[in-house]
Amino acid sequence: MVRTVKVLIAGGAGYIGGTVASACQDAGITPVIVDSLVTGRREFAAGREFYRGDIADGPLIDRIFAEHRDIDAVIHCAALIVVPDSVADPVRYYRANVAKSLEFVAHLLRNGCGRMIFSSSAAIYRASQDLTVDEDSPIDPQSPYARTKAACEAMFADIAAVEPIRVLSLRYFNPIGADPKMRTGLQLRRPTHCLGKMIQAAEDGVPFLVTGTDYPTRDGSGIRDYVHVWDLAAAHVAALGRFDAWPGPATVINLGTGTGTTVRELLDAFNRVADRPVQARDAARRPGDVAGAYTRTDRARRLLGWQAQHDITEGIRHSLQWAAIRDEVLSGGAAPQTPQTPQTPRTPQTPQAS
Ligand SMILES: NC(=O)c1ccc[n+]([C@@H]2O[C@H](COP(=O)([O-])OP(=O)(O)OC[C@H]3O[C@@H](n4cnc5c(N)ncnc54)[C@H](O)[C@@H]3O)[C@@H](O)[C@H]2O)c1
Repeated sequence: MVRTVKVLIAGGAGYIGGTVASACQDAGITPVIVDSLVTGRREFAAGREFYRGDIADGPLIDRIFAEHRDIDAVIHCAALIVVPDSVADPVRYYRANVAKSLEFVAHLLRNGCGRMIFSSSAAIYRASQDLTVDEDSPIDPQSPYARTKAACEAMFADIAAVEPIRVLSLRYFNPIGADPKMRTGLQLRRPTHCLGKMIQAAEDGVPFLVTGTDYPTRDGSGIRDYVHVWDLAAAHVAALGRFDAWPGPATVINLGTGTGTTVRELLDAFNRVADRPVQARDAARRPGDVAGAYTRTDRARRLLGWQAQHDITEGIRHSLQWAAIRDEVLSGGAAPQTPQTPQTPRTPQTPQAS
């Protein structure tokens, strides 16, 4: 088994990629970051080997491999992730997430990189009656964003079947929290996912809207599998150490806690942790919302030796800690210490849980 000493993280200046980079570094694996900063933050790459640029840029990827011959695996987190934006502009989303990923994998093959971990999403599953899913559950993505993730998985599997590359797609459930050492967290001041809206309600002193109270769950509110981003990061480190153990050239693993938490339960947990408790107000379902799902965790335990260590209380606490220091950490930040490829900055957009 090859021990990874250096890993290329595409999208490593984003929320999840940046946190994975910290976990790699803590585990003695050097992260090299390539990120266009379309939504990522320069501060998250500070002090790291950082190349500003696009995953589809062949000469840039060649240069990274030429300058870091000991990279032996790639973690591909680079994507656009805002579901409503993907509905409004599917061309942009298919180009960014699918077309660029295809270019990227061709660049990896040309550079002899035969190991890739891909950030996929639980959003590709069809909802089931009992609200649980596993890796064999039917795939039925409900948005252009989710379809780009399913398309990438299928594309990578076809490629891995005939080319010298092994691909592990990790299907994340609902990431919450921040790096416990507060190096990374959500870039946005006002995240639009459920926990972000609770934090916002607490800050503004307004009620939190429970949107949808007639779902087939134990209390009628939507259910999700909230997984701490530091646990997600740890799963990537575990995966890097077990690349040759996958059953086939393309493998998928769900990353969730195995526990479903309803919106009302999340709010109760929030109010146990937060200084300023938030009142709930019931509201109608929003278009496109679903009852939700949580995962069975057997495969992650068997193939990665991984299971989530943090509960939602810690995820909420770390999210609140991050929200309190976010402006300070992201106030312009220190310049990265390594050479960068110049690129015209693009307008940042609003990520949300996806
Ligand atoms: N956040 C979630 O709720 C969630 C859930 C499931 C899956 N995912 C997946 O995890 C991955 C990371 O998500 P995140 O929450 O950290 O989002 P993010 O927006 O914080 O990170 C994405 C990063 O990729 C970079 N990027 C985008 N396109 C690029 C390109 N063409 N070339 C170079 N860099 C590029 C962005 O600048 C950003 O730093 C994504 O692939 C996403 O689909 C996220």
